[in-house]
Amino acid sequence: LKFVCLSNDGIDQHMIWLVGLKNIFARQLPNMPKEYIVRLVMDRFGEIAFCAITADEQVKGYGTRLMNHLKQHARDEDGLTHFLTYADNNAVGYFIKQGFTKEIHLEKDRWHGYIKDYDGGILMECRIDPKLPYTD
Ligand code: ACO
Repeated sequence: LKFVCLSNDGIDQHMIWLVGLKNIFARQLPNMPKEYIVRLVMDRFGEIAFCAITADEQVKGYGTRLMNHLKQHARDEDGLTHFLTYADNNAVGYFIKQGFTKEIHLEKDRWHGYIKDYDGGILMECRIDPKLPYTD
Protein backbone atom coordinates (compact mmCIF):
# COMPACT_ATOMS: atom_id res chain seq x y z
CA LEU A 1 0.00 0.00 0.00
CA LYS A 2 1.30 3.41 -0.96
CA PHE A 3 0.03 6.92 -0.27
CA VAL A 4 0.93 9.84 -2.51
CA CYS A 5 0.17 13.57 -2.48
CA LEU A 6 -1.09 14.77 -5.83
CA SER A 7 -1.85 18.05 -7.48
CA ASN A 8 -2.93 19.22 -10.91
CA ASP A 9 0.63 19.71 -12.16
CA GLY A 10 0.18 18.61 -15.75
CA ILE A 11 2.11 15.32 -15.38
CA ASP A 12 0.21 12.67 -17.38
CA GLN A 13 0.15 9.98 -14.69
CA HIS A 14 -0.97 12.49 -12.04
CA MET A 15 -3.80 13.67 -14.28
CA ILE A 16 -4.96 10.07 -14.80
CA TRP A 17 -4.99 9.49 -11.03
CA LEU A 18 -6.79 12.77 -10.37
CA VAL A 19 -9.49 11.99 -12.91
CA GLY A 20 -9.85 8.53 -11.33
CA LEU A 21 -10.11 10.14 -7.90
CA LYS A 22 -12.68 12.60 -9.19
CA ASN A 23 -14.73 9.66 -10.52
CA ILE A 24 -14.57 7.88 -7.15
CA PHE A 25 -15.77 11.04 -5.37
CA ALA A 26 -18.56 11.50 -7.91
CA ARG A 27 -19.77 7.92 -7.43
CA GLN A 28 -19.39 7.72 -3.68
CA LEU A 29 -20.72 11.21 -2.96
CA PRO A 30 -23.69 11.35 -5.35
CA ASN A 31 -25.21 14.41 -3.73
CA MET A 32 -22.14 16.51 -4.48
CA PRO A 33 -22.43 18.45 -7.72
CA LYS A 34 -19.90 17.03 -10.19
CA GLU A 35 -18.59 20.45 -11.19
CA TYR A 36 -17.86 21.17 -7.54
CA ILE A 37 -15.84 17.98 -7.21
CA VAL A 38 -13.92 18.68 -10.42
CA ARG A 39 -13.06 22.17 -9.25
CA LEU A 40 -11.80 21.13 -5.84
CA VAL A 41 -9.79 18.22 -7.22
CA MET A 42 -8.33 20.06 -10.19
CA ASP A 43 -8.01 23.66 -9.13
CA ARG A 44 -4.63 25.26 -9.44
CA PHE A 45 -4.90 28.20 -7.12
CA GLY A 46 -3.77 28.07 -3.53
CA GLU A 47 -5.34 29.91 -0.66
CA ILE A 48 -3.06 31.43 1.95
CA ALA A 49 -5.31 31.00 4.92
CA PHE A 50 -2.95 32.09 7.72
CA CYS A 51 0.29 33.97 7.51
CA ALA A 52 2.18 35.32 10.52
CA ILE A 53 5.68 35.89 11.85
CA THR A 54 6.36 35.81 15.59
CA ALA A 55 6.13 39.32 17.10
CA ASP A 56 9.78 40.03 17.88
CA GLU A 57 10.95 38.84 14.46
CA GLN A 58 8.57 40.93 12.34
CA VAL A 59 9.76 43.46 9.74
CA LYS A 60 13.15 41.75 9.42
CA GLY A 61 12.48 40.28 6.00
CA TYR A 62 11.30 36.83 7.13
CA GLY A 63 7.76 37.35 5.80
CA THR A 64 9.19 38.12 2.37
CA ARG A 65 11.47 35.08 2.41
CA LEU A 66 8.61 32.88 3.58
CA MET A 67 6.41 34.08 0.72
CA ASN A 68 9.19 33.59 -1.82
CA HIS A 69 9.75 30.00 -0.68
CA LEU A 70 6.03 29.39 -0.79
CA LYS A 71 5.79 30.74 -4.36
CA GLN A 72 8.70 28.63 -5.53
CA HIS A 73 7.36 25.48 -3.88
CA ALA A 74 3.76 26.01 -5.00
CA ARG A 75 4.87 26.55 -8.59
CA ASP A 76 7.59 23.90 -8.87
CA GLU A 77 6.06 21.16 -6.73
CA ASP A 78 2.34 21.76 -7.11
CA GLY A 79 2.02 23.53 -10.48
CA LEU A 80 0.11 26.44 -8.96
CA THR A 81 -0.30 29.63 -10.96
CA HIS A 82 -1.99 31.94 -8.44
CA PHE A 83 -2.45 32.52 -4.74
CA LEU A 84 -5.51 34.04 -3.19
CA THR A 85 -5.66 35.37 0.32
CA TYR A 86 -8.08 37.25 2.51
CA ALA A 87 -5.61 39.82 3.78
CA ASP A 88 -6.23 41.54 7.10
CA ASN A 89 -6.62 45.26 6.45
CA ASN A 90 -3.46 45.99 8.44
CA ALA A 91 -1.44 43.50 6.39
CA VAL A 92 -2.49 44.76 2.95
CA GLY A 93 0.78 46.73 2.64
CA TYR A 94 2.81 43.59 3.23
CA PHE A 95 0.85 41.62 0.64
CA ILE A 96 1.17 44.43 -1.94
CA LYS A 97 4.96 44.27 -1.45
CA GLN A 98 4.77 40.52 -2.12
CA GLY A 99 3.09 41.15 -5.47
CA PHE A 100 -0.56 40.77 -4.43
CA THR A 101 -3.23 43.02 -5.95
CA LYS A 102 -6.78 43.86 -5.01
CA GLU A 103 -7.82 43.20 -8.59
CA ILE A 104 -8.75 39.55 -8.96
CA HIS A 105 -8.08 38.15 -12.40
CA LEU A 106 -9.02 34.53 -11.71
CA GLU A 107 -12.52 33.75 -12.88
CA LYS A 108 -14.91 34.12 -9.97
CA ASP A 109 -16.47 30.68 -10.34
CA ARG A 110 -13.07 29.08 -9.63
CA TRP A 111 -12.86 30.49 -6.11
CA HIS A 112 -16.21 31.95 -5.08
CA GLY A 113 -17.67 29.94 -2.23
CA TYR A 114 -14.39 28.17 -1.43
CA ILE A 115 -12.62 31.00 0.32
CA LYS A 116 -13.91 32.18 3.62
CA ASP A 117 -14.42 35.92 3.73
CA TYR A 118 -14.68 38.01 6.85
CA ASP A 119 -15.02 41.62 7.96
CA GLY A 120 -11.75 43.48 8.30
CA GLY A 121 -10.13 41.71 5.38
CA ILE A 122 -9.89 42.05 1.65
CA LEU A 123 -9.45 39.42 -1.03
CA MET A 124 -6.12 39.71 -2.83
CA GLU A 125 -4.49 37.77 -5.63
CA CYS A 126 -0.91 37.06 -6.61
CA ARG A 127 0.10 35.61 -9.95
CA ILE A 128 3.09 33.34 -9.59
CA ASP A 129 5.62 34.02 -12.33
CA PRO A 130 6.19 30.81 -14.32
CA LYS A 131 9.98 31.30 -14.60
CA LEU A 132 11.26 33.75 -12.01
CA PRO A 133 13.69 32.24 -9.48
CA TYR A 134 12.09 33.25 -6.18
CA THR A 135 14.80 31.80 -3.96
CA ASP A 136 18.62 31.68 -4.19
N1 ACO B 1 1.72 46.69 6.79
C1 ACO B 1 2.42 47.30 5.80
N2 ACO B 1 3.66 46.91 5.42
C2 ACO B 1 4.20 45.87 6.07
C3 ACO B 1 3.54 45.19 7.11
C4 ACO B 1 2.24 45.62 7.46
N3 ACO B 1 1.52 45.03 8.42
N4 ACO B 1 4.33 44.20 7.56
C5 ACO B 1 5.46 44.26 6.83
N5 ACO B 1 5.37 45.27 5.94
C6 ACO B 1 6.35 45.67 4.95
C7 ACO B 1 7.74 45.84 5.54
O1 ACO B 1 7.93 47.15 6.01
C8 ACO B 1 8.63 45.53 4.37
O2 ACO B 1 8.72 46.65 3.52
P1 ACO B 1 10.10 46.99 2.73
O3 ACO B 1 10.36 45.79 1.83
O4 ACO B 1 9.78 48.24 1.99
O5 ACO B 1 11.15 47.12 3.78
C9 ACO B 1 7.85 44.45 3.62
O6 ACO B 1 6.48 44.59 4.03
C10 ACO B 1 8.31 43.04 3.94
O7 ACO B 1 8.40 42.92 5.35
P2 ACO B 1 8.89 41.60 6.07
O8 ACO B 1 9.89 42.00 7.12
O9 ACO B 1 9.33 40.61 5.07
O10 ACO B 1 7.52 41.15 6.74
P3 ACO B 1 7.32 40.37 8.13
O11 ACO B 1 8.42 39.39 8.35
O12 ACO B 1 7.05 41.32 9.23
O13 ACO B 1 5.98 39.56 7.83
C11 ACO B 1 3.64 39.77 8.35
C12 ACO B 1 4.81 40.27 7.48
C13 ACO B 1 3.41 38.28 8.05
C14 ACO B 1 2.39 40.56 7.95
C15 ACO B 1 4.01 39.97 9.83
O14 ACO B 1 4.30 41.30 10.06
C16 ACO B 1 2.94 39.52 10.80
O15 ACO B 1 2.92 38.36 11.23
N6 ACO B 1 2.02 40.45 11.19
C17 ACO B 1 0.97 40.16 12.16
C18 ACO B 1 -0.01 39.11 11.66
C19 ACO B 1 -0.67 39.50 10.35
O16 ACO B 1 -1.15 40.62 10.16
N7 ACO B 1 -0.67 38.53 9.40
C20 ACO B 1 -1.35 38.65 8.12
C21 ACO B 1 -2.81 38.42 8.33
S1 ACO B 1 -3.68 38.12 6.81
C22 ACO B 1 -3.56 36.43 6.63
O17 ACO B 1 -3.09 35.72 7.46
C23 ACO B 1 -4.03 35.84 5.33
